[in-house]
Amino acid sequence: MTPAATAASTDTLALLGGTPVSSSMIPLVQVKLDESDIQAALGVMRAGGLAMGKNCLALEQEFAQLTDAAYALTCANGTCALQLVYEPLFERGDEVLVPAWSYIATASMVVARGAIPVFVDADPRTYNIDMRDAASKITPRTAAIAATHLYGNPVDIDAVEKLAAKHTLSVVYDAAQAHLATYKGRGIGAYGDAVTYSFYPTKNMTTGEGGLITTNDEDLAQQVRMLRSHGETTKYTHTHIGYNYRMTDIEGAIGLSQLQRLPELTARRRSNAAALDRAIAEIPGLTAPTTTAGGEHAYHLYAVRLDLDSMQVPAGLDVDRSSPSAVRDAFCKALNAEGVATAIHYPRSLSHQPVFESMVDEHPPVAESLASCLFCIPVHQFLTTDQVARIGEALAKVASAFRG
Ligand SMILES: Cc1ncc(COP(=O)(O)O)c(C=O)c1O
Repeated sequence: MTPAATAASTDTLALLGGTPVSSSMIPLVQVKLDESDIQAALGVMRAGGLAMGKNCLALEQEFAQLTDAAYALTCANGTCALQLVYEPLFERGDEVLVPAWSYIATASMVVARGAIPVFVDADPRTYNIDMRDAASKITPRTAAIAATHLYGNPVDIDAVEKLAAKHTLSVVYDAAQAHLATYKGRGIGAYGDAVTYSFYPTKNMTTGEGGLITTNDEDLAQQVRMLRSHGETTKYTHTHIGYNYRMTDIEGAIGLSQLQRLPELTARRRSNAAALDRAIAEIPGLTAPTTTAGGEHAYHLYAVRLDLDSMQVPAGLDVDRSSPSAVRDAFCKALNAEGVATAIHYPRSLSHQPVFESMVDEHPPVAESLASCLFCIPVHQFLTTDQVARIGEALAKVASAFRG
């Protein structure tokens, strides 16, 4: 091949017949158990104590310490973690301020509690709950704020606490994506009435399915413990309608084993994110994630924003141009062809979910706009330095083609 032909094939999008930046796909997530996780699970299976036991207890103690919380309680998943704290903290008919830009569970469990979700817009820089919009949505029925540390980025906790103190609101933080994020130098378990976590396989640490609650309120910890196990206060005495939301000890052992590596794995995510930030800073039309002032991001996801005004779909690419997300979707398709996996978190804001239709008067506009300009690229702990560099290269190549 002549040098001119080589240059042409590396500049040409792989989607249009050029050479991909990476010959194999760089995955968005990699779910891998370490040999020590497997041995920990086997140990429980061999010993036979399968139900919640000493491993869950040890996971709770170590997780509380690592997140600067007084109490931690394991449970079956991140959704029932929300349910277990919403139940004692909210009353039926309460209005609860929730982010319009989050995963469904943050808001759906408010409805499951019999409370009313009030959708608050997203901050256009951090994508977390916009506390000015939250303040504008307070009514005499507002009882709580349920905010998500989305993608691993802590919310503006000072602003949440200020609003909560002014109106005597309960505060729950959904940290399903934010294990080991910090705010003002303290673990996120130090803040709010309760914080909930998920250990689903794609999360920063996993137990298969699994969840956890941290709190600094002894009474709340006791209520969660009781609701988690059939509302039982003493053996076969049930004072509340509760659930069986317990974690198994096999999951507890896997979680405890994973937790030993979580600080190191989170540091890897952060250094990958820093390298991606540097690459994106050089690419017009793309914006790297902004960490909340005072926060330290846990980078469960790395969300890139596409400047739709400066980008257009290059000739020759087949897209549905009538869709508001056409440019973003084509951009992702082109990146995938270069060997970089992408994901959309999320394709629509919560106020646009059919299930909430009857509860929404107007759609928060920033959240609505994020559904067509954000996309996530790999940031996980298993990326090699070469893969991170290739992600940067692929972003530059595709952005250049889309800038025309
Ligand atoms: C922000 C958020 N909240 C809650 C959940 C629910 O967690 P789980 O899947 O463990 O029930 C998730 C899971 O994806 C999440 O991302």
